[in-house]
Amino acid sequence: MILGIESSCDDSSIALIEPNSLKLKFHKKISQELSHSEFGGVVPELAARLHTSALPKLLEYIKTDFSQISAVAVANEPGLSVSLLGGVSMAKALSISLDIPIIGVNHLVGHIYSLFLQNEAIFPILILLVSGGHTLILDVKAHDEIEILASTSDDSFGESFDKVAKMMNLGYPGGQIIEKMASLGDSSRFKFTIPLKHDLRIEYSFSGLKNQVRLAIQRLVEDGNLQDKDIYDVSASFQKIACEHIIDKLEKIFLMRKFDRFGVVGGASANFYLRSLLETLCKKFKREILFSPMEFCSDNAAMIARAAVEKYRQNDFTSYKDLQIRPNLNLKK
Ligand code: KG4
Ligand code: ZN
Repeated sequence: MILGIESSCDDSSIALIEPNSLKLKFHKKISQELSHSEFGGVVPELAARLHTSALPKLLEYIKTDFSQISAVAVANEPGLSVSLLGGVSMAKALSISLDIPIIGVNHLVGHIYSLFLQNEAIFPILILLVSGGHTLILDVKAHDEIEILASTSDDSFGESFDKVAKMMNLGYPGGQIIEKMASLGDSSRFKFTIPLKHDLRIEYSFSGLKNQVRLAIQRLVEDGNLQDKDIYDVSASFQKIACEHIIDKLEKIFLMRKFDRFGVVGGASANFYLRSLLETLCKKFKREILFSPMEFCSDNAAMIARAAVEKYRQNDFTSYKDLQIRPNLNLKK
C-alpha cells in the first residue's frame, strides 16, 4: 500500500491506497478551519504547529500492519513552506523507520487525480483548477506533461470568496459561507462588472472585483447598518460575476482548442453555481464534464496517494536525503 500525506495549507490528512486495485483503504483529515477562522485567513505559524500535532494523531488512526506500506507519498509542492515541512518531515521519518522510498507529489497534480480516485486516469483532459491558492486552466496531456493555459494575475477564485467573507465578518473559509448567503440573495441588485471582459488576454483577475465589492459594502455601512438582506445580495451579486469571469475566459479556450473531456477540481469546485454554469458551457460545446466527488474537492491525502500511484508504477522514487519542499508553482518535470 501507499501511504499519502497532505499538509500543504491548513488541512492535515492521511490516506492509504492499494496501487493495483486503486482501493482507498483509509482516509482521514483534520481541518484547521476553526483555528484560523478568527483571523479571517490562514496564519502560517499556527498552521505549522497544528500539523505537527494532527499528523501523528492521524497515523494512530490507521489500523494496519505498517509492514504492508511499501512507499510514502507526500505533497512537497506548492504550498505554504512551513506547512509543507510538517508532512515532508513525517514522510522522511517514516521512510527511515520503515525503510521505504518516498514519492514527492505536486499538490496540484493531486487535485487532478481527485477525478480518478478509484479508476484509471484518461488523458488528455482540459482542467479548471479553482482553489484558495490557484486559478488555473491546464492542458493535461499526460501524467507528467501539463501546460498552463491561463492563471490569475492577483487573487485566486477561492481567495476572493475568502476576502469578501472577511469584509462582511462572516468567517473563514469564505467559499461555502458566501455560497450559502448567495442562495438567499438577489444577484441582480449590485451591478459588478466582469473583470478583463474586453481584454483579449486569457487570464484571470479577482482583485478589481474584490474592490468593487469593498466599495459597495462601504456605501451600505455609511448608509446605516449592513443588514442581512444586504449581505445576501452582495454575496449573490459577487458570486455571479466571479463565476461569469471564469466562464468568460474558459469559453475562449473552448472556442480555440480541440478536446473531448473537461475536468473541474480544487476546493472551490464544490460551488454549485459555478458547477451549473460549467455544465451549461459543456453542453453548449458538447464536451464531457467531470467533477471531483464533493468530499474530495478540498485538500485531502487520498488524491495525493492516488497521484503517487502513477510514479510508483514507474519506480519514480526519491530518497529521504533528496526530498525538498518547493513552495512555488512549478508544473514542469
Ligand atoms: O483546494 P482547497 O481546499 O485548498 C487550496 O489548495 O487552496 O481550496 C480551498 C478554497 C478556499 O478559498 C475556499 O473558500 C474555497 O476553496 N471554497 C469555495 C467553496 N468551497 C470552498 N469557494 C467557492 N464556493 C465554495 N462552495
Ligand atoms: Zn488544494
